[in-house]
Amino acid sequence: MFTHKRADFGDDFIFGTATASYQIEGGQTDGRGPSIWDSFSATPGNTHNGDTGRVACDHYNRWPEDLDLLADGGFDAYRFSFSWPRLIPEGTGARNEKGFDFYDRLIDGMLERNIKPYATLYHWDLPSALQDKGGWMNRDIAGWLADYAVEVNKRFGDRLAATATINEPWCVAFLSHMLGVHAPGYRDLRAAARASHHVLFAHGTAINALRAEGAKNLGIVLNFESAQGATGKSEDLAAAHLWDGIFNRWYLDGVFKGQYPADVLEKGFGPYMPEGFEDDMATVSTPLDWLGVNYYTRGLYEADATRTIFPLKKVDGPLEKTEMGWEIFPEGLEEILTRISADYTGIPLIVTENGMAEIEGTDDPRRIAYYDAHLGAVLAAQKRGADVRGYFGWSLLDNFEWAEGYAKRFGLVHVDYETQKRTPKKSYEAFKTLLTGANQSQVA
Ligand code: FCB
Repeated sequence: MFTHKRADFGDDFIFGTATASYQIEGGQTDGRGPSIWDSFSATPGNTHNGDTGRVACDHYNRWPEDLDLLADGGFDAYRFSFSWPRLIPEGTGARNEKGFDFYDRLIDGMLERNIKPYATLYHWDLPSALQDKGGWMNRDIAGWLADYAVEVNKRFGDRLAATATINEPWCVAFLSHMLGVHAPGYRDLRAAARASHHVLFAHGTAINALRAEGAKNLGIVLNFESAQGATGKSEDLAAAHLWDGIFNRWYLDGVFKGQYPADVLEKGFGPYMPEGFEDDMATVSTPLDWLGVNYYTRGLYEADATRTIFPLKKVDGPLEKTEMGWEIFPEGLEEILTRISADYTGIPLIVTENGMAEIEGTDDPRRIAYYDAHLGAVLAAQKRGADVRGYFGWSLLDNFEWAEGYAKRFGLVHVDYETQKRTPKKSYEAFKTLLTGANQSQVA
């Protein structure tokens, strides 16, 4: 059980869980177009065990049961993502009405159960037809995303509690175009520099298009890592600061200050940026109503002078690790929430993802301890002035963990992929107790 009480977080604080379309839906029939994750995961060597999201958790068919789990757990909200290729199979142009009908059912299902829909427009399943035109490397993606956003808003906007444009632009840009770990699997500096700008330019363009339609409560979801020096040596501290620039400041400075960090441009991206990008920065930094904060871990960095571009490398840390090999460092969540509110913005912050991968099973005391410590970090940040309004655990279900396939399990609810049977884990019960007061006697 958790050591916190619901009331500690404030009266209107929202608790939810998060998922993403490609990771849970399956249902690749019914007119859904191909996405970059279909072909990336079908390419040998890209995912653990060759796993793909073809069936995933079959949420496309089993969503009523999944929403019941949310309602029974006492959650206020559900963060889900729309699949762009399910709605607009080629990315632009013709619509797949069965896709629109699916999200109608899903959203109405949430409202019937008194669950607030928190939508993400883009959680990585880019329509393949747009990748064929360069995807995030092509500046035109700003218009493609904005047009798609408007279609979504016309049909669903009146029923959404909040909308985020992009999930984790660092992953969309750097992990996918520089490190090659995620679709489309590029390892190219020019591709990464361009994607890093276009992803934020597209975000701002979509926000403006949504505002013009009267859409409310708009934000973006950024991911953060606590970047620390492997030693106290000045060159290692500088390496950690540069990684903070690549991972955290690029997005915070872009979105809230309308400029990119000079060190990241100087140490890598500068010569490869799209011409005239400076003129887009007012769009990149268009005001938002809220910011989503995803946080999982910290990283230790040291200088690596053998690299001419971004001269640093990550080193293994000594702290207890999750099944992802990620160090457990709740202090980092307190630190980033406090830093954002002190240095960047006063808009409401929502922890839109936080959680851990654990070995298979339903008895998961380490996950309960992880959540408890990170919920404590939220409370500590609130005390230090951060306006944190909500917390979403990643994830409702065990699901397709991208390059890690089905080997890594983040769910509050266990999924047996042979039978699709869902079984709540003890961590789910801990949230249920926090949120509904069931078994409250055990808490005190
Ligand atoms: C985040 C992603 C999410 C999930 C978690 C573990 O980076 O947004 O889809 O994979 O990590």
